[in-house]
Amino acid sequence: MSESNMKVEEETSALQFMKKKIHSLFVNQGDEDAFFVADLNDVIQKHLRFLQELPRVRPFYAVKCNSSDEILQVLAALGTGFDCASQDEIKMILGMGVPATDIIYAHTCKQPSHIRYAAKHGVNRMTFDCESELVKVAKNHPTAEMILRISTDDDGSISCLNKKFGAPLEICAYLLKVAKSLHVMVTGVSFHVGSGSGNPQSFHQCIGDARRLFDIGNTLGHKMKVLDIGGGFPGNPDFHPRFEEFTAVIVQSLDQYFPSKEDVEIIAEPGRYYVCSAFTLAVNIITKKEGYVKGADGKERRKLSYYLNDGLLGSFLHYNLCREDKSLKPTVEKDVLPSAERFPSKLWGPCLTEKDVLFEEIDLPELEMGDWILFQNMGAYHMTLRTTFNGFPSPNVQYILGKENERYLRNCGTS
Ligand SMILES: Cc1ncc(COP(=O)(O)O)c(C=O)c1O
Repeated sequence: MSESNMKVEEETSALQFMKKKIHSLFVNQGDEDAFFVADLNDVIQKHLRFLQELPRVRPFYAVKCNSSDEILQVLAALGTGFDCASQDEIKMILGMGVPATDIIYAHTCKQPSHIRYAAKHGVNRMTFDCESELVKVAKNHPTAEMILRISTDDDGSISCLNKKFGAPLEICAYLLKVAKSLHVMVTGVSFHVGSGSGNPQSFHQCIGDARRLFDIGNTLGHKMKVLDIGGGFPGNPDFHPRFEEFTAVIVQSLDQYFPSKEDVEIIAEPGRYYVCSAFTLAVNIITKKEGYVKGADGKERRKLSYYLNDGLLGSFLHYNLCREDKSLKPTVEKDVLPSAERFPSKLWGPCLTEKDVLFEEIDLPELEMGDWILFQNMGAYHMTLRTTFNGFPSPNVQYILGKENERYLRNCGTS
């Protein structure tokens, strides 16, 4: 594991660590750059909880969600597989020494040269959801083991992936026949209930649908042996429904449709579940402006505008794409009395565009230039989806790992 930004701590939460760091920055004035603290202990806890709640399911972590070296190394040491979406992601994971059999190439619409790359490196498991993909695979990777991704109703999720991916159930039997006629092996079924799903019951529906397709596939001569239940699990501890509400439905549905005496491998592709809560971002107020707004009573009130050194085109780009995600909450890192007056406040990002606004109006105590604002639950998609528009650098990440967990990882294999 790279040592550069790694700190092994006896007993520290990410928040405590962050507060200490902010205090030392305050004392040694001059470094106001936004920064992340990533708590690898949290990732390990999430993994153990996943295994405990879903003992029959092997997680294949979705690399797209957060592909930082430290996260991938921890997960590889813990023994997860990896869900890759492209040639570069496959290359990254193979480069870490992960065997090709621990990778699923889970993009249903692949560039032919990426398929050839997968074939050359022994990555055989891939997903598909249409006929043209089967034609491509027959030509570029004839020994691939294809997994049919079915579509589902994902209304109410933060990201409705089924608008774009997944075969409608009505055409699935036809696709299985086409695969047979092209001599393409189909070995299983996958689905994704939508990222940040709001509906645990969708798992029940999808697992039942997968069962019916397993039976059709087997009848047609395919050897159906992999069920991939995708991602969609919550990563923010305040999110409802909670993780355990999803897993209760999954365990019951697997027992009903795929009893353990059947030799079916069950995998998942969790992304945000693993990394969301591990990352906290600290941003600095670089400019303060003051104006007035009319309140509901017609009286004028002070309105404060703060310009932050990270924003919508930086670490919050994912938030910009998913405004349905209402979980973003600023925490003021300053001692303020609970009784202190609060003012309508606007939070701007730093870029030279009026679109770079994090909050139009939020009630906050009065802050000053140089004060810090923290955002928790910033690990999922924020790190992989950001720009350095206007030359604002991506925040540095400080990783923390407790001594006991460091030993635990070492005992798992690599560290
Ligand atoms: C195919 C696939 N698998 C897994 C994931 C990860 O989903 P989540 O972060 O909701 O667990 C995604 C997210 O876009 C995806 O497209």
